[in-house]
Order: sequence, then structure tokens, then C-alpha cells
Amino acid sequence: MSRKPIIAGNWKMHNNNAQSVELTEGLKAELKEIDKNLLPEVVIAPVFTSLYVVNEELNKCGCGKIKMASQNCYYEPKGAFTGEVSIDMLKDFSNLEYVIIGHSERRQYFNETDEMINKKAIAILANGLIPIVCCGETLEQREEGITDKHISTQITKAFENISAEDTAKSVIAYEPIWAIGTGKTCDSVEANRVIKMIRETIKSLKGENAANSIRILYGGSVKPETIEEQMAQSDIDGALVGGASLKADSFAKIVKGAMAKASV
Ligand code: PGA
Repeated sequence: MSRKPIIAGNWKMHNNNAQSVELTEGLKAELKEIDKNLLPEVVIAPVFTSLYVVNEELNKCGCGKIKMASQNCYYEPKGAFTGEVSIDMLKDFSNLEYVIIGHSERRQYFNETDEMINKKAIAILANGLIPIVCCGETLEQREEGITDKHISTQITKAFENISAEDTAKSVIAYEPIWAIGTGKTCDSVEANRVIKMIRETIKSLKGENAANSIRILYGGSVKPETIEEQMAQSDIDGALVGGASLKADSFAKIVKGAMAKASV
């Protein structure tokens, strides 16, 4: 089964409005000459306050080559939840199709639990958007030999009460925490092994079709120099990119590195 690859740029807490627009313009220019059908899905995730200007900037080209994600959301539709943003509010942005949830930085610094991530995933899918569900182990967990157990638990909890059909549409990002922002990429063969294990977990929970359809990305120090080897692996369907997505040329190189798989 062919799964359309995704290259997603997680800008984290970087870029004010002017910088966000500049980066978007730069990326548009880098991808201008390439036929949309040859590209992977290209997704950028600015901070909430820049979603409006980036959406406008993307509308200007009208070419539909670049989509947006938000870096988080809240699962309640509205109400007294100071500082939170609902999914309905995110639907204001015509280019926004994805919502990243459960990033390890949110789990670690903002105490997000598997239960909250599950509620977010359910609400995102109910609103017609697609969750990018992050999972990954710490260095201690890897050294203890509990990587697979930890990740399959995260995935099982994240997809509780989600149908096979909705699971099939979803995206998972496997991001070993020790590889995020450290320059230490997880070996591609090992990343592929863990991703296959995630697919097996989905198969046992939701069946073969969901397992074959769900796209599973790798994240953690992805660079232009690593992407081709990563994409050459059987089960890696793309990348969630942090640091290297903050420069138009390096992110475009990563996008181009995924083109071979995008046109299969
Ligand atoms: P990195 O971040 O590419 O800077 O390691 C990846 C991520 O946290 O999504």
C-alpha cells in the first residue's frame, strides 16, 4: 500500500509574525519550480499567533503545496479555559489540516498525560482535522530496555475509543526524546524497527487496514544529510523536523530528499 509521505516542520516557540511570513515566503520560493504531485505533503507548524499571517501568505500563491499544522490544541469546544485554543478556532485557517499533539516537550514541561492526548485526538478527528500524535522514549527508558513497551502503551492510550477508520487517517511521529534537538539522530534501521513495532501495535488494536494506512514519521535531529537514508526505510513515511525547519533552504532540502518516495 502506498502512503503519501509527509515532511512537517515544527517551528516550536520561534518566529514572530514578520519572521514567520519571511520563512513561508522563502519556502514557497524554494518549492516554486516543483510540480505539486511530485512533492510529499509539506506541512509547517507556526506558533498560534502566526497562524493567521502564514495562512494569508499561503493563500497568496494558491498552489496548495504547503499546509499548516498547529503545535497544540485544547479538546473542549469553548469556555472558561484561559490561555487555551479550541479546534473550532483552528478551523478558521483554510490551510490548516493537522494538529500536533503529545509532543515530548508538552508532556515534559506542561504535564500532558496520555489521557489528555487521547481526548485531543478524539476531538481533532471529530472536527475533521488530522492529529499528528507524538511518542518516544527517554534515554533512561532505552537503556533499561523498555522502549517498545513504553511506546506501545503511549500509542494504545492515545488511540483509545478511536475507530479503525479514524486511526487510518491519523499520523504518528516517533521521536526518541534523546534525539530531539541534540544532533544525535536515531539510527535509521533502529528507527524503522520501532516504527514497524508501532504499526504492529496499531494492527493488533485496529486491524490491518488501519495499520497499512496510518502514516508514521520519524523525528529527532532530522537534517538534509539524513533524510534520504531515513526515507529509504520500509516503514518511515516522512519526518517531523524541528531545528532544520527554521531555515527555508534546509527544510526544502529535506522536502526534496523525500521526493523519491513521494512519487512511487
Ligand atoms: P529537532 O526537533 O529536529 O530539532 O530534533 C524535532 C521535534 O521536536 O519535533
